[in-house]
Amino acid sequence: MFRNLDNCRNIKDFQLLAKKRLPRAIFHYIDGAAEDETTYRRNTLAFEEVDLVPNVLQDVSNIDISTTVMGQKLGMPLFCSPTALQRLFHFQGEEAVAKAASNFNTMFGVSSLTTTTLDKIKSLPDCPKIFQFYYHKDKGLNRAMIESAKEANFDVLALTVDTITGGNRERDLKTGFTSPPRLTPKTLLSFLTHPNWTINYLTHEKFRLPLMENFVKEGSKISITVGEYFSTMLDQSLNWDKALELRELWGGHFCLKGIMSPRDAKNAVSIGASGIMVSNHGGRQLDGARSPFDQISEIANAVGDDLDVILDGGIRRGSHVLKALASGAKACSGGRMYLYALAAGGQKGVQKALGIMREEIIRDMKLMGVSSINEINGSMLRRRIN
Ligand code: LAC
Repeated sequence: MFRNLDNCRNIKDFQLLAKKRLPRAIFHYIDGAAEDETTYRRNTLAFEEVDLVPNVLQDVSNIDISTTVMGQKLGMPLFCSPTALQRLFHFQGEEAVAKAASNFNTMFGVSSLTTTTLDKIKSLPDCPKIFQFYYHKDKGLNRAMIESAKEANFDVLALTVDTITGGNRERDLKTGFTSPPRLTPKTLLSFLTHPNWTINYLTHEKFRLPLMENFVKEGSKISITVGEYFSTMLDQSLNWDKALELRELWGGHFCLKGIMSPRDAKNAVSIGASGIMVSNHGGRQLDGARSPFDQISEIANAVGDDLDVILDGGIRRGSHVLKALASGAKACSGGRMYLYALAAGGQKGVQKALGIMREEIIRDMKLMGVSSINEINGSMLRRRIN
C-alpha cells in the first residue's frame, strides 16, 4: 500500500509512515526501548487484559470530555508528554506539537533537551504547557533552566525521576544514533536513502539544544547517545530533599514524572507535588519494570485526591484512555503516540493523530453510555480470567 498522511487511521499507521520517512537511526531512537523491550511492549499490551463493560440507554447526545489536571483546564483527558530532540524527527519540531496541542486545547510538554527556544514557545498561541526538567550536575544550568521556564510562562514543572542513569538502549547502539546525529558509514546510507529528511535537516535552522549549549557541549556540539548523556550529565545524588528544594524554587504546579510505586506516590504528596506521571519512560530505562496501567489503581488508591495521577505510557487508542480513567487516572499522556505523527507529517500529522484520539475517546464514551469524564469508574472494567 502507498502510505501517506491521508490514509493514516490510527497510531500504528503513523508509526509505519514514520518508519518510511525517517533515517533508520532516528526512527529506531523513537521506536526503541531498553534491552529486550518487554516493558515497552507490556505498556500497551496491559490494556488488553481488562475489558470495558458498557451501559446503554443513557442519552449520550451531549458529551463533555474536558478535565482539569494540575490546575490546567484541558479540552480532553489526553496530552502530549514532554519528549526530547523533536527537530530531528521533523524540521517543525516542538513548534508543531505546541500548535497542534493548542488546537485541541490540551497540554504539551517541552523537554530540557528541547531543540526550539523557550522564547519561541512563549510566542505561540497560549495553551497549558509543562516544562520537563532533567536534574543536571551543573547547578548553574539547573538555575538557568528554571529561570527560562518561568520567563516563558510554563504552567507546570515536571521533574523526571527515572533517568538516574542511562537505560541500555540496544537499538541506539546498533544503529549508531547520537545527538547530534553523526555521519558514519553506518548512518550515511540511510541519510542518502531518505533525501527529503536529509534536505530538510540541512536547509532549516541548525540543530541545537538551546537550553544546554552554554553549559554542556554534549548533545549539541559533541555527539553522544542519550543513555550516555543521562549517565554522565545528570546528578545521581538526586533525592527527595532535592526534589522538594526544586519544587520550592519553582513555586508553581510541580509534577514528578516516572513514579511507579504507591510509596513514591505518597512521598510526592508529602513534598507538595500537584501531580505525578505514572511512567516507566516508555520502557526506555528499566526493562522488566511493570507497566503504568498495571500500577495505576494501586497508586490512585494510595493517594486518593491528594494529587492528580496521570497515566503516561502505552496509549494507542481512545479505549486505553477510558480504561486508565476507569482505573483511577485523572488523565493520560503519551510520547510516541504523537512523535510518530510528527515524523510522518509535522504539525499536520500531530493534529491528525490528536484528532483521531479525540474522536475515539468521544465515540467510546458514547458506546460506554457515559457523558462526562467523571462518570467513568471502576465498575465499568473487568479483568480477564483467561
Ligand atoms: C529519551 C529522553 C531524552 O530518549 O527522554 O528517552
